[in-house]
Amino acid sequence: MSNTLNNNHLFINAAFSKSTERPPVWMMRQAGRFMKEYWDIKNKYSFLTMCKTPELAADVTMLPVDLLGVDAAILFSDILVTAEAMGGQLSFEQGVGPRFANPVRDKAGADALQTDVVHKLSYVADAIKVVQSRLNGSIPLIGFAGAPFTVLSYLVEGGSSKDFKRTKLLLNNEPELAHFILGKIAEVTAGYLNLQIAAGVNAVQLFDSWAQALSWDDYAEFSHRYNTRIIARLDRKDIPVISFCKGSSVFAPLMATAGPDVISIDWNVDLRDMKERLPAGMAVQGNLDPFVLYADKAVIKKKIYALFERMRDQKGFIFNLGHGIMPDIPFDHVKYAIDVVKEFHY
Ligand code: CP3
Repeated sequence: MSNTLNNNHLFINAAFSKSTERPPVWMMRQAGRFMKEYWDIKNKYSFLTMCKTPELAADVTMLPVDLLGVDAAILFSDILVTAEAMGGQLSFEQGVGPRFANPVRDKAGADALQTDVVHKLSYVADAIKVVQSRLNGSIPLIGFAGAPFTVLSYLVEGGSSKDFKRTKLLLNNEPELAHFILGKIAEVTAGYLNLQIAAGVNAVQLFDSWAQALSWDDYAEFSHRYNTRIIARLDRKDIPVISFCKGSSVFAPLMATAGPDVISIDWNVDLRDMKERLPAGMAVQGNLDPFVLYADKAVIKKKIYALFERMRDQKGFIFNLGHGIMPDIPFDHVKYAIDVVKEFHY
């Protein structure tokens, strides 16, 4: 397998809470629309074609590696490919985002979701192999999947939602049906992440982007329970597991009980305070407000330094944003932030 990393990698060391000379840096949604080079590819192919063509997925994965110099690559794909493999009729429309033509809203829809589908995602394994041959051990490759609650929300709503009204109606009125669907998604997700691990990723991240919509009790019952089940089933070996949700500033202590190596924290909380509330040896990732990257460069530097000052002497810290890069953030601001991190020394 071509995933043998050069030893002593910053990102892996930080993920396992070993000391590093500076925090490693990567950014959620780094392989995306804020780069002109992304659009050069996207203007020729549909988004799903890009995901399903290993050479194209590898080309996009490599853009932030080559143009930004990040310390980890994240595979170019989407959290909704599991739902598509299960039978969701997925499309991505410009300016609209993801859509499922057959939203799942009743028992018949839930029954129709297939679970013996991981083989349909072999294009992702192929993309991982192409990326690893290009990275050639220089930096780690992060694989990922959507967490069951977040994927459920897209299947039920039929696309993006502001308030998750239909999803919450399902959780409240038909909790057994919700659990039935979540169980199916969790089973596929665990198999899918293990497929990525077998194909050679060096870390995995579970994206539960919309967990913030849930109350504490509902988060525990409809999200955390399934994330725990998935993490327990991973063939982890020496592969760090990162758990991300929007809402981690509230849920992180509970997320920690699922046993990830790293929790990715949103920007509503002081990162050091949160780290000190987590079990010893639990690394954190985050947590710059992505909107800072719109600001003047002097402000960007000041805010990054303030975060680093708070995290002084802390092992187990990966610099990232509290959520993904927005498409209209200027490229040179993103590059500048990464350079600031890479030139930093405690
Ligand atoms: O981080 C990376 O750069 C790797 C690639 C990646 C994409 N999507 C590419 C993408 C990752 C990790 C994702 C995860 C994802 N997808 C999430 C969780 C991450 C988060 O920000 O919380 C979610 C909620 C989705 C669902 C999704 N996919 C939406 C809502 C959209 C459209 C609007 C949007 O926010 O981008 C997508 C499409 C998508 N996924 C694009 C990209 C580059 C844009 C496609 C285009 O070019 O139009």
